[in-house]
Amino acid sequence: GSTLQAAAAESGRYFGTAIAANKLSESAYTTIANREFNMITAENEMKLDATEPNQNQFNFTNGDRIVSWARSNGKQVRGHTLAWHSQQPGWMQNMSGSALRSAMLNHVTQVATHYRGQIHSWDVVNEAFADGSSGARRDSNLQRTGNDWIEAAFRAARAADPNAKLCYNDYNTDDWTHAKTQAVYNLVRDFKARGVPIDCVGLQSHFNSQSPVPSNYQTTLSSFAALGVDVQITELDIEGSGSAQADNYRRVVEACLAVSRCTGISVWGVRDTDSWRASGTPLLFDGNGNKKAAYTSTLNALNGG
Ligand code: G3I
Repeated sequence: GSTLQAAAAESGRYFGTAIAANKLSESAYTTIANREFNMITAENEMKLDATEPNQNQFNFTNGDRIVSWARSNGKQVRGHTLAWHSQQPGWMQNMSGSALRSAMLNHVTQVATHYRGQIHSWDVVNEAFADGSSGARRDSNLQRTGNDWIEAAFRAARAADPNAKLCYNDYNTDDWTHAKTQAVYNLVRDFKARGVPIDCVGLQSHFNSQSPVPSNYQTTLSSFAALGVDVQITELDIEGSGSAQADNYRRVVEACLAVSRCTGISVWGVRDTDSWRASGTPLLFDGNGNKKAAYTSTLNALNGG
């Protein structure tokens, strides 16, 4: 294939990107996005603060713009995200207990219902585990509603949109030996054992010098897959430049291609200048839209080397 999406499709995979609604009017941006990617994630527009700014008053304007752009260009959509400790609207940040639990479940139900039938995979719960070596849940207002909040969210999402794949999504879960990776693994294993609906694990895979692409990355992918879930690389970006960065992108793609249930890769933005990282050059296109060495190594790896 001569584009990322075409090359990925040759092995039945997708290749996606995060998209910002306020850039859809920029043709330099949409030209690349439309040509290279066939799976679209809203970078911010489907988050809790965006979709429910006031309790029970939903705003799908910008999320709908992204879904509409994606679908009119023949692309699929990943939903991001239904339940998260961060980017909660103000009214939710100060809630607790059963009122918060109900509000969270209502949010999951309303948003998943609005987009029913249009979402390939939902990041139902995002970033629920703590960093560091504890392997514990992250403390948050949602966690304080009870340890079963994650499975409650998944059950509500399944009821609202039975055909969407339901994912648990997190960062720093790439190194198989990391306590956080093991904690997510145990959650998924428990859900599968008890019949809690879960279909996929999203590895965000934000890499930099502090958290490089681990040598055991493929082991992590294959270990999750062995639990009976798909694995998706959901927010890939890798700090660096030149051949070192290109080599790291190649390693990520090769690891995914080696695991049959690694079903797709999404990068977290189109050009370096679109990245959430204030400085740095972690993506596949430079600020002028030129293909970087990392683009070429990614494309070549998708094409089988
Ligand atoms: O839209 C407002 C704008 O009106 C305002 O003037 C400006 C001033 O701060 O803020 C703008 O909103 C910002 C928004 O990005 C859009 O640019 C928010 O402050 C800023 O917090 C937000 O950052 C996003 C971040 O999530 C928030 O947590 C990034 O764009 C987005 O790339 C990032 O994505 C996350 C994933 O959701 C989860 N995994 C990690 C990933 C990277 O942090």
